Amino acid sequence: MSTLYPVSLTTSPEGPMCLADIPLPKLAAKYGTPLYVMDRETLAKNCRDYTQALAKFYPNSLVVFAGKANLNLGLLNILAQEHLGVDVVSGGELFTALRSKIPAQHVLFHGNNKSSSELEMAIRHGIRIMVDHEEELVQILGLAKTLEKTAQIMLRLKPEIEAHTHDYIKTGHIDSKFGLDKRDLIRLVNWIKSEPSLHLKGLHSHIGSQIFDLEPFEDLAQIMTQHMATVKAECEIELEELNLGGGIGIQYTTQDDPPSIGLYIEKLTTKLKACCAELGIAQPRLILEPGRSIVGTAGVTLYSVGAVKSIPGIKDYVFVDGGMADNPRPMMYQAQYTFSVADKPHETPSRIYTIAGKYCESGDILAKDVKLPEVNVGDTLVVFDTGAYNYSMASHYNRSAKPAMIVVENGQDRVLVRRETYEDLLRYDEE
Ligand code: LLP
Repeated sequence: MSTLYPVSLTTSPEGPMCLADIPLPKLAAKYGTPLYVMDRETLAKNCRDYTQALAKFYPNSLVVFAGKANLNLGLLNILAQEHLGVDVVSGGELFTALRSKIPAQHVLFHGNNKSSSELEMAIRHGIRIMVDHEEELVQILGLAKTLEKTAQIMLRLKPEIEAHTHDYIKTGHIDSKFGLDKRDLIRLVNWIKSEPSLHLKGLHSHIGSQIFDLEPFEDLAQIMTQHMATVKAECEIELEELNLGGGIGIQYTTQDDPPSIGLYIEKLTTKLKACCAELGIAQPRLILEPGRSIVGTAGVTLYSVGAVKSIPGIKDYVFVDGGMADNPRPMMYQAQYTFSVADKPHETPSRIYTIAGKYCESGDILAKDVKLPEVNVGDTLVVFDTGAYNYSMASHYNRSAKPAMIVVENGQDRVLVRRETYEDLLRYDEE
């Protein structure tokens, strides 16, 4: 079954495409475009695919959403209803998480260069900190002592696995800017052990993003449990938690064939349990940090077509009222997406178009050679699977106001993030 489309997407033989029973052109007219629309039912399904598979195969676990994929209060509150935690990578994300309904003990703090004030905020609230390097450990210790708190920490290790993915989004390899070298592990654990202001919860590692192959995840489970066994043998500490990061891929086009979340969990936890048994260590609490696979397929972007420009014998452009500012991924990663005309899902795709954004840059092309029915000015173009790393990477390029994000469920729609206004754009300007 295709996971390209949100669960509640429907098309009737006559009418426009609907999401949660609401016609997409109607949402475009009500909220304006570009518009990010999140489908509550898909969010629930993605979260439950994780939580239900874990309940079956590895109940001692916690799923934390990688907030960098898409972070706002309303969305976090939905994920809190689905019993997910959140991982944050900046003071701003941490501040948002602390204001949401996700409990502090389900918030994890990442980053390779956290500032003192960010670390202080985390320590004050008892947030687990993923330690990236030794200097950071020194800093955390100093702050914890000053604040008279015990800092909850996990050590982030380089997994030294090269998962097959786009070069820019690999984080596991040895020259990565993220994480500690395994050769420093035992010395650091012994040091942490001697400091009452530090509580070492466990180890963390993350191999990359948009990965379809399950083997690197199984290898990671093996490598990390071996590290846990070494810590047990050499430091006499049985670590409570193991965080294996995120990274499972999603389907953006019919060419993509990701494994199901259920299969990923089954394979990963089977390997993890086998490794623990083999190495004689207790099964740790498993933490996973999926981002894309929670929100990616739940989101679509709606654009209005402003013009169709034909260059005879060369190409036909469809101009939309957004582009690289609301979705930089095609330009940054050559990311591919699936497009439809929401007003005419029943019409046969008979034309080939290049979908161009409105920004002042020739490279602002969302996609080339897209097969669609004849597109007319005023049509609503829908782009699927834009729920992850679109809004969170959006910019104000060309002084554009960021679009609104809404959520739909059972015929109801509500705003998660308001559309920015021109006044908002001037808010920080001094004359
Ligand atoms: N945990 C850590 C430590 C991470 O660095 C990431 C993503 C995740 C979890 C979540 O990975 P996911 O499940 O979403 O694959 N901007 C890029 C993706 C960058 C991913 C960075 N780290 C994109 O648009 O494809």
